[in-house]
Amino acid sequence: MPGLVVVGAQWGDEGKGKVTDLLAERADVVVRYQGGNNAGHTIVRDGEVYKFHLIPSGILYPGKLCLIGNGVVVDPKVITEEIAGLHHRGIDTSGLKISANAHLIMPYHRLLDLAGEIRLGEQQIGTTRRGIGPCYSDKAARLGIRVQDLLDEKILKQKIYAAMEPKRQMLRPYAKEPELDLHAMTEEYRTLGHRLEPFIADTARIVWDALDRRRLVIFEGAQGTLLDIDHGTYPFVTSSNPIAGAACVGAGVGPKDIDEVWGVTKAYTTRVGSGPFPSELDSELGERIREAGGEFGTTTGRPRRCGWLDLVALRYAIRLNSLTGVVVTKLDALTGIDPLGVAVRYLGPERSSFEEFPYHQSILHKARAEVVELPGWQEPITGARTLDDLPQQARDYLGFVGERLGVPIVLVGVGPGRDEVIRTGAAPDLVPVPGEGRAGEAPAPVVRGS
Ligand code: GDP
Ligand code: IMO
Ligand code: MG
Repeated sequence: MPGLVVVGAQWGDEGKGKVTDLLAERADVVVRYQGGNNAGHTIVRDGEVYKFHLIPSGILYPGKLCLIGNGVVVDPKVITEEIAGLHHRGIDTSGLKISANAHLIMPYHRLLDLAGEIRLGEQQIGTTRRGIGPCYSDKAARLGIRVQDLLDEKILKQKIYAAMEPKRQMLRPYAKEPELDLHAMTEEYRTLGHRLEPFIADTARIVWDALDRRRLVIFEGAQGTLLDIDHGTYPFVTSSNPIAGAACVGAGVGPKDIDEVWGVTKAYTTRVGSGPFPSELDSELGERIREAGGEFGTTTGRPRRCGWLDLVALRYAIRLNSLTGVVVTKLDALTGIDPLGVAVRYLGPERSSFEEFPYHQSILHKARAEVVELPGWQEPITGARTLDDLPQQARDYLGFVGERLGVPIVLVGVGPGRDEVIRTGAAPDLVPVPGEGRAGEAPAPVVRGS
């Protein structure tokens, strides 16, 4: 059994949580490899909604090993609350392990995130204000505080002091905030450390052990390819690398440990926060997709910007992540919209056109999508479990997309529920099949190559 990465192929919120939960049934280990509680991963199971910010989306299976890898930035308050919330709902968290090497989000990171956005004014990135960027900055500056530091009061205090000193100037507006008091902060983090101690572990070793026993390990990405700090729409990105390559660094394995990489994309596109979005629908149609798809942020509740599916950006994500499979979610949200648009290339200044994702930000900021129209469908499709159950127009839509991507579509989401999914048959042995629509009976993959 392989190592499989689930990576966001757009700007986040593609439905990674649902896909991870689905695959986790067959996995021994689920590991988050980057990001922090800027993520919001939703799972709907038996009508109950679970929203996770740090806890891997495999936790609903009792005892399943769910790891927070070294590449994640952990707000100890948030993880403690998430654990308590799960206990309250009767969910077993004994399989949760947190890397001792993961970095901690500190109160001053949250304040610096806020201050940075205020300073940028209209140019602001629209961060989640969770302190993600400042925490990764401190990691790179070697001023970070790690999970293991929670266990030693003396080291913790020294490190907090060393990390806060250079920030005095920037933190001046918040100088009177009680949470910035060195002693109080050390005390609070020590208390959180006591609570988290049973979860702290050498997570890389747990992953190696599972891989060496040929068990399935799911590497759960957060955010998405176009929010990647190196390859995304910089500076309107997050401060980590969500792409599949980062799974190696953030979980502690080598590239040869990754066998499959599944990119998750909605059947349309959304984005939260600022930055270029060539296929954006700044119109009533965008509003309609937002309502149909319930496109409001899991983490901040902000309305998500909506637009047509963007094949230029998706092809870029396919190459960057070496995708072996594509998961298309939320096809059901397009029901009733006719015609449907799909962005096939970008049009830039002076009649330029781009088949490939442009690397230069001045071009990207001005690029508008050239859209091909396809017929829509009116019937609800949430009950579909095979491609044959879909209206012809929906099959044609997937066929059009699959043909232009050249990577098999392995799953299609038709509703938020765990079973509201179509297995196309392209990766049958990895996806559990409840009841009908057994892998062996499923139709052939939508499209392979073109
Ligand atoms: P993530 O951050 O990638 O895990 O995605 P989010 O959880 O932030 O956002 C995806 C939203 O879409 C969640 O509310 C999911 O419950 C929901 N969702 C996932 N797949 C589908 C689908 O196929 N259809 C519908 N209608 N909703 C879906
Ligand atoms: P999941 O894992 C969507 C966006 C923010 C902002 C930018 C930088 O649920 O897909 P940050 O707080 O990371 O410094 O903000 O990145 N962003 C997300 N957008 N889904 C996410 O996570 C995101 N995490 C960060 O809105 O534009
Ligand atoms: Mg999300």
